Amino acid sequence: ARVVVLAGGLSYERDVSLRSGRRITDALTRVGVAAELRDVDASLLPSLVDDPPDAVVFALHGQVGEDGSLRSVLDLIGVPYVGPSAAAAHRAWDKPAAKAILTEAGIATPEWIALPREMFSDLGAGPLLERIVERLGLPLAVKPASGGSGLGVHLVRTVAELPAAMIGCFAYGDVALVERFATGVDVAIGVIDGPEAPITLPAVEIEPISGEYDYAARYNPGATTWHVPARLSETQATAAAAAAIGAYQALGLRDLSRVDLIVPDSGAPQVLEANVVPGMTETSLFPMAAEAAGHDIGDLLVAMVHRVLA
Ligand code: DAL
Ligand code: MG
Repeated sequence: ARVVVLAGGLSYERDVSLRSGRRITDALTRVGVAAELRDVDASLLPSLVDDPPDAVVFALHGQVGEDGSLRSVLDLIGVPYVGPSAAAAHRAWDKPAAKAILTEAGIATPEWIALPREMFSDLGAGPLLERIVERLGLPLAVKPASGGSGLGVHLVRTVAELPAAMIGCFAYGDVALVERFATGVDVAIGVIDGPEAPITLPAVEIEPISGEYDYAARYNPGATTWHVPARLSETQATAAAAAAIGAYQALGLRDLSRVDLIVPDSGAPQVLEANVVPGMTETSLFPMAAEAAGHDIGDLLVAMVHRVLA
C-alpha cells in the first residue's frame, strides 16, 4: 500500500507534528510500507486528487488535522484515512462539546465553564470572574477550548491570577475553557480498536520535573519522568481503563486515540480530553505505551491501514 503521512501545516503544533510525522513514516517504512511524509500546504489537495494514495495517516496535530475539516475533504475525494471520522474528530477537538458528551454518558470530567473572548473583554469581567470562582472554586485550569501540547494552558491558584490566564489563553483561540483543577495521578491511556471492542494500552503516568506538564516538559528529553504502567492500585487502573474506553466510545472514535485523565485517590477518574492525533514524537506517550505492551508502532499502524483498505 502507498501511504501518505500528513504532518506540519500551520498549526501551533507544527514542529511537534513534523517530529511525529517523521517517526510514523520511519515506522511504516520499516515494516515495508511505501510511506511518504507530506508537509501540509495548499498544494496538498490537487496532489491528492491527481495522484491519490491508498490511505492517509494523520500526524497532523492541531487545527485542520484534528478538527475534522481535512477528514471531510478526504471523505469527499474518496481517500481513506486511519483514525476517527470527521464528525468524531470534531467532537473530540472541541473540549467543551466533548465534556458535555462525556457527562451525558456518565463519564466524570472536571466541572467547567466555556467563555468566548467577547464575554471577557468588557469592563464587566470582574464580577464574571468572581462568579466563575464561586461556582468552580480554586485552583482552576484555564485552557483554550481547542488545542494541544499544553499551549495556552494556565494553572490558576488565586482569583487575581485569573485575568492574565484568560488573556494568555485567548492568544491561542477564541474560547477559554475554565475547569476545576482535578488532583490525582496524571495519566494518558492509548485506546486502539481490538478484534471486537476497543482495548487500552498500559496507562502512562506523567511526572513533570517542574511540576507542570507544559510544552517544554512534553518535548524536552529528561524534563518529565514517566511510569509505565502508571503507579495505580488495581481498582484505580481498572476504573481508569474503563473511563478511557467509555470516552472513546461516547465520542465515537475509531482506530486509535489517547485519552488523558486524572485519577484521584478515591472516586471516579476524571477524563480531561481525547486526542485523535496523539503525539508520536520520541517523548510522546502513545508510542511509549505501545512499546511497553510489546507492540511495534509500525505494526500497529499498518494493521490500521489494512483495516481502512478492507
Ligand atoms: N497534541 C499532542 C500532540 C498530543 O496530544 O499528543
Ligand atoms: Mg490534547
